[in-house]
Amino acid sequence: MSPIPRQIVVTSALPYANGPIHIGHMLEYVQTDIWARFQKLRGHECTYVCADDAHGTPIMLRAQAEGITPEALIERMHKEHLQDFSDFGVAFDNYYSTHSDENRYFAELIYTRLRDAGHIRTRVISQAYDPKAEMFLPDRFIKGECPNCGTADQYGDNCEKCGATYAPTDLKNPISVVSGETPIEKDSEQYFFKLEDFEDMLKKWFADGHVQAEIANKMNEWLDEGLKDWDISRNAPYWGFEIPDAPGKYFYVWLEAPIGYMASFKNWCDTNGQDFDAYWSTDSKAELHHFIGKDIARFHTMFWPAMLHGAGFRKPTAVYCHGFLTVDGQKMSKSRGTFIMARTYLDHLNPEYLRYYFAAKLGPGIDDIDLNLEDFTTRVNSDLVGKLVNIASRCAGFINKRFDGKLSASDDDLNGQYLEAAETIAGFYENREFGKAMRDIMALADKANQYIDDKQPWVVIKDPQRFTEVQDVCSVGLNCFRQLVILLKPVLPKLAEQAEEFLNCGELSWDDLDKPLLDHGINRFKPLMTRIEPVFIERMIEATKADLIAEQKIQQGPSDASIEPVAAEINYDDFAKLDFRIAKIVAAKRVEKSDRLLQLTLDIGTETRNVFAGLSNAYKPEDLEGKLTVMVANLAPRKMRFGVSEGMVLAAGSGETDLYILNPDSGAKPGMRVR
Ligand code: MSP
Ligand code: ZN
Repeated sequence: MSPIPRQIVVTSALPYANGPIHIGHMLEYVQTDIWARFQKLRGHECTYVCADDAHGTPIMLRAQAEGITPEALIERMHKEHLQDFSDFGVAFDNYYSTHSDENRYFAELIYTRLRDAGHIRTRVISQAYDPKAEMFLPDRFIKGECPNCGTADQYGDNCEKCGATYAPTDLKNPISVVSGETPIEKDSEQYFFKLEDFEDMLKKWFADGHVQAEIANKMNEWLDEGLKDWDISRNAPYWGFEIPDAPGKYFYVWLEAPIGYMASFKNWCDTNGQDFDAYWSTDSKAELHHFIGKDIARFHTMFWPAMLHGAGFRKPTAVYCHGFLTVDGQKMSKSRGTFIMARTYLDHLNPEYLRYYFAAKLGPGIDDIDLNLEDFTTRVNSDLVGKLVNIASRCAGFINKRFDGKLSASDDDLNGQYLEAAETIAGFYENREFGKAMRDIMALADKANQYIDDKQPWVVIKDPQRFTEVQDVCSVGLNCFRQLVILLKPVLPKLAEQAEEFLNCGELSWDDLDKPLLDHGINRFKPLMTRIEPVFIERMIEATKADLIAEQKIQQGPSDASIEPVAAEINYDDFAKLDFRIAKIVAAKRVEKSDRLLQLTLDIGTETRNVFAGLSNAYKPEDLEGKLTVMVANLAPRKMRFGVSEGMVLAAGSGETDLYILNPDSGAKPGMRVR
C-alpha cells in the first residue's frame, strides 16, 4: 500500500437532465463508485464529483412539452437523479448542476482565455432552421426519409434501418420535430474553437498513455485526417449561458458540460475548505480521473484536454471509457421491456445484486457489457448468497448459540493466504480489472467454505471433548468472512455495513485485513442477503413496459383517446379537495410563439382568472368568447413561458384537434360550485 496518500479527483459523465437514469447509465456510475470507494478504503484522499448536465435544446423542449419552466424541470430531475444514485449506493462527494454560478464563471473564464490567446474565430455558416418555431434545429430534431434506403421517420444524423450516416440536409422530405414544418437553410455567424492549434499537444498526450490504447488509436486516426474547427456557439432561443461578448449567442452545451466537473469540484472546495488551485493548476500534484462511455470519448479526449491546456489548467491524468450495456445480448429495448429505469429496478431488486454483477463483468476495456438476466440470477445466488453469506451463516449459528457470541483466539494459515491474495486484488481494482478481482475474491470464499466442509463443525460439536474446536473453526471462518467483506466493500457497501454491525468491529478499511478479531464478541446474525427469485425479474420487466407508456405520453402528448390509461382510484376526500367552478370565458386570444395555447380570461363570479389552455388547434378564440365552461379554481398558479396560469378549464379529448370543452346546462351562473 502506498504510504503517502494520493489526492484524487474522480468523475462520472454528467447525465442529461431531460430524462430519468436507467440501468445503462448505472453501469458507469457503479464502475466509478467502486473505483472511488476503493481509493478511499486504501486511505487516499479521493473526491468523487458529478452533476446534472442541465442545459441544451432537448431540455428546453421537454420543459415546453410539460408546460413548465426549464428551471423547474432541472430541479425535479436533479432530485430524482440524486435519489436514484444514492439508493444504488453511488456515493458522490458532491452532486451539482451545470446550471450554476460556478459553471458560468468557469465557462466564461475558459472561453475568454481561449479567445485572448487566439484560439477562437468566427465564421458564417448555414444551418437548418424551423421558420415556425423560429429556431435553429439540432440534427436530432429533424426527421425525414433515409436518403439511402428510403425508410421514413429517420433522424437527421443516421438511419436506424440501414445504418447510413448523413447530414440532415440529405434527408428526403425533412420535417422539424418541433413544429412539423419543413426546415429551411439559414445563415448565421458562429464561434469556433481552433482545435488544430492543439495538434502537437494532443499527439503527445495520447502517446503518454492517458487514454486506453483503443481510444488513442481512434483519436490518432482523426488527428491524421486533420483537425477541424469545433462550433462552440448556438443561436437563441437556447437554454444555457450567453457568450459574454456575443449577445444572442449561447455556449454549446458540450462546451460547458465538462466544465461542470470543475464547477462541482469548486462548489465542494468552498463547502469543505479545500484549495481548488491545488487540484487544477498546471503544476498540480493531484490526480484527475474521468470515467465515461465510449460514445463521448471525443469530447473528453480531444476537446476537453485542448480547452484545459489552452486556458492554463491541468489536463486529466486519465480518461477511462467503458462499453455499452446490453440486456440479454441486445441493445436495451423499450418494447422488450429491457430499457429498465434505475427506479424500476430499485422497486423490485436489491441494488447490490447489480453492483456485484456489473463488477463481475467489468474490465478495463471498451467492450460492451451484457446483463444476461438468467446469468445474473444464477451468479448472484451462487456467489453472494451461496458462497459469501453462507460462510457467515454457517459459523454464526454455533458462535451465537454455543459460545455466547464469542470468537476464540484461534488464527489460521487461511487468513494469511487471504492477505497475500489481497495485494493482487488491490492491483486489479486499481486497474479497473473488477471482473478479475471478483473472480479471485470468490476463489477465496471457496477456500473458506472448503475449510468449513473439511472441519465438519456440525459433526465435531457432538463430541464434548472437541467442543472448543468448533469455536476455533467458526472463528477462523468468520475472520475469513470479515476479510472478504473488506475486499468486497467497494462493491457491496451496504452489505459491508450490515456485516460490520454483525461482527461488532467498527468501520472496516483495507488496513484491517491483517487485524483478525480474536477473543472478540459478535452480535446476533441476521440474514445479510436473500436469493433472487425469477419472479422478481419478471415483475421488473412488466413494470418497465408500463414505464414506456408513461414516458411516451410526456414526449408526444396523448395521441389517441382510446389508449388513455385509467387513473388510480381516489377516495372522497381527494375528490372534495377539487374546487370546480362554472366560469364564463369573457375573452380569448392566441398566444404568440405558441402553436397550442390560447389565453383565456375567465369570470368566476367573485374574480377573473387568467388561464393558458391548449385549445388553439380545436377552437377559434372568437368562438369561445361568451361560453360557459367548468374550471378547476384551486389549482396552484403555474408560471409558464408566457405568464402565470391561474387554473385549468375542463375539456374532453386528446389534447390536439379533437378537443371539447365542457358546457353546463342552461341556468348555471359563473362562480357556482360544481360537485
Ligand atoms: N450529458 C452527457 C455527458 C456530459 S459529460 C461532461 C451525456 N449524458 S448521458 O446521460 O447521455 O450519458 C451519461 C453517461 O452514461 C455517458 O458516459 C454515457 O456513455 C453513459 N451511458 C448512457 N447509456 C449507456 C448504456 N446503455 N450503457 C453504458 N453507458 C451508458 O452523454
Ligand atoms: Zn436507411
